[in-house]
Amino acid sequence: MSALLEAVGLRKTFRARGRLVHAVEGVSLAVAAGEALGIVGESGCGKTTTARMLLRLEEPTEGGIRFDGADITKLHGNALRPFRARAQLVFQNPFDALNPRFTIRRSLTEPLRNFGVAASEHRERIDAVLRRVRLTPPESWLDRRPHELSGGQLQRVVLARALVPEPRLIVADEPVSMLDVSVRAGILNLLREARDALGLAAIYISHDLALIRYVCERTLVMYLGQVVEEGPTAALIAEPAHPYTAVLVAAVPVARVDQNRAALPVRGSLSDAPPTAPGCTFRDRCPHAMPRCTADTPALRSISGDRRVACHLGDLP
Ligand SMILES: Nc1ncnc2c1ncn2[C@@H]1O[C@H](COP(=O)(O)OP(=O)(O)O)[C@@H](O)[C@H]1O
Ligand SMILES: [Mg+2]
Repeated sequence: MSALLEAVGLRKTFRARGRLVHAVEGVSLAVAAGEALGIVGESGCGKTTTARMLLRLEEPTEGGIRFDGADITKLHGNALRPFRARAQLVFQNPFDALNPRFTIRRSLTEPLRNFGVAASEHRERIDAVLRRVRLTPPESWLDRRPHELSGGQLQRVVLARALVPEPRLIVADEPVSMLDVSVRAGILNLLREARDALGLAAIYISHDLALIRYVCERTLVMYLGQVVEEGPTAALIAEPAHPYTAVLVAAVPVARVDQNRAALPVRGSLSDAPPTAPGCTFRDRCPHAMPRCTADTPALRSISGDRRVACHLGDLP
């Protein structure tokens, strides 16, 4: 399976109020056409920063990104336009993703115009995408403005806007977290249908393992800017290899996306462990910590064909 998008060793360091924030510390991943990859981890672990680097909305401090075989790490301005059309972000908050003064027609025309689609094709493309997100008949939606729509309807428009340039990759960062629980599964199902119909690659980002389990075949677990575990979602949930994954699984008692849950119980702080200090960043909260966890940083290692974990447990020195 060849990757559509591949990232190697992504790092991002921010300078905030005079101190450095190591938001992402060496994330590598790949996603193929038709595949849905999940990135899960608690708030602040670097998921959004990773997504923004993958979409070249944020410049990586270090690392490389390839899309469809081409190195896009250093592209800027006009050179990025073809990539911008093919890799689209689904925004988290539908209530501020759309210009409140724009009609839906205008919100959907803008990307087509930006990416140089002939005006003669606009109406057909917009109608098709509105049908795809079940805002039908399209003509009854075109002249409405955001304030006339519910949260779920707004998120359908946001999804339509991401799909209208005919992307090959969708990155959905907490795509339903701002929505009422009752409409979440509907939006996720629409996304899945669009992916299946169009053969899109997708990266779903969420703090919610239930959402990831619902939509992703493969999952990366992030903790404090690093990938601590990676594998097929079902196997990773059935038998977590990293103690942090086990904590996430324990926090998700039911496999449902239509219920609200309490916040995750474990919280780390990025300033706890500067990247130069050796040892596992999870050790202070880990029920299995041993002396080696302070002395040695666990590298991401393969534990079976398609699973990797960054943990000393079960690793014979
Ligand atoms: N532009 C920025 N400037 C400074 N710090 C940032 C910036 N963006 C994110 N961060 C910090 O980087 C860390 C990771 O943030 P983020 O990627 O948003 O995590 P997540 O999406 O997993 O909640 C956090 O500590 C956050 O405060
Ligand atoms: Mg985020």
